[in-house]
Amino acid sequence: MARVSNWWTHTKTLLIIWFISSLTFYSLLRMALFNASRDSPPDSSSVNVVAKDSRARLYNKMARDLHEKGALFLKQGETSQSLSLSDIFSLKDGSVTPILKAADPPVRANVLHLSPQQSFPISEAVRNIFLPHFNKVIWFQNSSMYHFSMYHASHHIVPVPATAVEIEAEANAVKAVAKTVCPLKIVLDRVVLTSTGVVLGCWQVLSGTDPVTIRAKLKTALPRSPEKQLYDNVMLHTSFARLLGRPNTYPKEVDKTFELKFFDELVTRANNQLSGFQATVTELWYVEEYDVLALALNGRMKARKFQLGCSNA
Ligand SMILES: *[C@@H]1O[C@H](CO)[C@@H](O)[C@H](O)[C@H]1NC(C)=O
Repeated sequence: MARVSNWWTHTKTLLIIWFISSLTFYSLLRMALFNASRDSPPDSSSVNVVAKDSRARLYNKMARDLHEKGALFLKQGETSQSLSLSDIFSLKDGSVTPILKAADPPVRANVLHLSPQQSFPISEAVRNIFLPHFNKVIWFQNSSMYHFSMYHASHHIVPVPATAVEIEAEANAVKAVAKTVCPLKIVLDRVVLTSTGVVLGCWQVLSGTDPVTIRAKLKTALPRSPEKQLYDNVMLHTSFARLLGRPNTYPKEVDKTFELKFFDELVTRANNQLSGFQATVTELWYVEEYDVLALALNGRMKARKFQLGCSNA
């Protein structure tokens, strides 16, 4: 009897240990699976956390650019597309006029478009802050044409000529991509002034298809496109204005410290008014730019506009 009860106690202990171990194993397995599902590549409708972090780091770096390189635009800088500003604007007769140059072959750009209803309040704020200091030495982005450059089928650095038939095929491929992309809810992370004088809005994604995914889809859809694209994969930016020269409110003599403090204050004002501004992007455009930087300079262009088709944003 004692032996049987001994055997039972022993077995009971073993059973309890086995039960606890399997329970532990099972919960660890579940945790591992849960984490794996969180780490797996997000589907097109969820926010890409990794891209979000890289964007924040990129924007910090862009914001440091002015301090690191100084205000190059006071000595005629280059644009974000490495075109010299003196080549694209003339400051004659007291007004700023873009110098439109035919793009041959036309540039074929894919951009997300921000509706004028949403861009207008931004453009008004930017104008109110910068115009008093840069009257006649500033170019404002047309608020009907606020756009986020995604992917080029052809650009001025690596031109990819295309026939009318090939262009139609490209546009149809982009239309098919647009159907799979979810509208993006975005928030203006920060306003940045680059050393070349471009006032940029740098945005974060709250929901919808991440720009990284959109660019990957466009790359697949446009196999002839230039390998080297103009912008970082994670970037979601729109240009607001281009400063072309010395502020007219400067005192006669300024040193570098004054200069940077002056621009920092303007950028801070812009950020105070605009960071946190939320918008929704619902259109992808395939744009043939017949003039260099037509989207930026009100040049000649043909835009095919596609609604983003995925509904679970
Ligand atoms: C801004 O863009 C719209 C739409 O293309 C156009 O109708 C308008 O003339 C442009 N404004 C200027 C000042 O060029």
